Amino acid sequence: VCPGSLIVVSNRQPYRHEYESDGGVDAGNGTDADPSITVDEPTGGLTAGLDPVVQRTDGTWIAWGDGDADFDVADENGCVAVPPGEEAYTLRRIDLPDEAIDSYYYGFSNRVLWPLCHGFPELVEDRANDFEWYRTVNEQFADAVVEHADEDSVVWFQDYHFALAPRMVRNAVAPGTTVAQFWHVPWPDPSTFRYCPAGGNVLEGLLGNDLLGFHVDRYVDRFLESVERFLPAARVDRKGRTVHYEGTTTRVVATPMGVDAASYDREAREVGAGPLESLRSEYDVPHPDDAVIGLGVDRLDYTKGIPERLAALERFFERYPDWRGEFTFVQKATLSRTDIPTYERHGDLVRSEVERINSRFGTDDWQPVIYTEDYLEQAELCALYRHADLLLVSPLVDGMNLVAQEYVAASVDDTGDTLLLSDRVGAHDLLGSHAITIDPSDIDGMAERIADALEMPIDERRRRMRTLRDRVFDADIERWMSAQFDWMRRLHGEPSRSG
Ligand code: G6P
Repeated sequence: VCPGSLIVVSNRQPYRHEYESDGGVDAGNGTDADPSITVDEPTGGLTAGLDPVVQRTDGTWIAWGDGDADFDVADENGCVAVPPGEEAYTLRRIDLPDEAIDSYYYGFSNRVLWPLCHGFPELVEDRANDFEWYRTVNEQFADAVVEHADEDSVVWFQDYHFALAPRMVRNAVAPGTTVAQFWHVPWPDPSTFRYCPAGGNVLEGLLGNDLLGFHVDRYVDRFLESVERFLPAARVDRKGRTVHYEGTTTRVVATPMGVDAASYDREAREVGAGPLESLRSEYDVPHPDDAVIGLGVDRLDYTKGIPERLAALERFFERYPDWRGEFTFVQKATLSRTDIPTYERHGDLVRSEVERINSRFGTDDWQPVIYTEDYLEQAELCALYRHADLLLVSPLVDGMNLVAQEYVAASVDDTGDTLLLSDRVGAHDLLGSHAITIDPSDIDGMAERIADALEMPIDERRRRMRTLRDRVFDADIERWMSAQFDWMRRLHGEPSRSG
């Protein structure tokens, strides 16, 4: 599939080794590792999706080693063969000191680029040294890439943690090496990007890529506009979607990411009564035969529109009291980046809103919102996806939103499950016409859309879900990957560098 030997670079690693605090749990990794070391399997959309591809290509994956036992199972270069027991490819871990993590990850990546790309310039915190550390860490990753790369390699950076490394790599490797990147978050309007500290460096770094991918056309257009405005020395061909800068030609493409639909479908079908029972006993999630269940699944992030969603649920229960006791909303939130005060405050707000709404409407045997931040087993998540009657996806902005697609893939019963989808997420371009579209900042409107979903005739709901399923299966992760590799193949070995 991949035109050369693949080197994937991402911030998060596909396998993490940890010490089991109570000891005795086998790593199952077939190495001589201490048996009290455990290995976390990939769960996120990106790492889980790319892992099988890298396995097939016998490639290398370079990532931050953030597990406490990571470097005890790796060699002196931080390399370990994965998956545990199969050893299909090399995972090269980069060791980052605490200061680097604070500045590169909690700093420039998540206090500057994340809020900026999502259109929240007012949340940008430009702290002293963060950009310098971001550059240093990008250099560290670039050096590691250069050690593994040869003329035939395809280097594939993932996401906003590595805006500078592509140019560093481009300048250090043979001209035949292909350098590519996929930017998983939105690209902002130039009127927002102008607030980016070191914005020129960010653009110059990204233009070290031969290929730069975004999820949807509007991010591509905004990126090209930003280059035109803030990097006058670059030559932008808007129609051809290419940029010439300092001897490199960068092709900018929109290739929407999908999920491994077949595996969500399979796992949902295989779910037995066990996970439902554990959800009931742990969290009081009602049995799907006894209540209508709504669902939200998100990282606890201010871009996800969770307070707005809760406000809409409150409005809904105010206006439609007959649904009290009949409709229960389950919100699974995953703690994220809690060292950043904005995230901490946001988490506090969400928890206190849940409590307030539950004490306003809850009764002895029903609460409107079941909220958990616990880690859920994949089987429990699939059980929730399968049995929830509707999924509410209300981000204020989101690059793609894979949860919407996972839900559709796991809705295997043809019982008319409904997707309510914000019009500000990349996935809306693919699914919007057959989802129920919501405007995440219009609380009244969202409450009415929940009511519409619950009252929509079943035939109509089934018809919509069948079309959604076709689309999610058609545009799955395999498709995304082959679109990327097709582009790389076209560019690989092409005389794209003139200087
Ligand atoms: C977003 C980013 C990913 C990131 C994920 C989880 O989806 O685009 O790059 O891995 O969030 O965030 P975290 O900061 O926990 O890695």
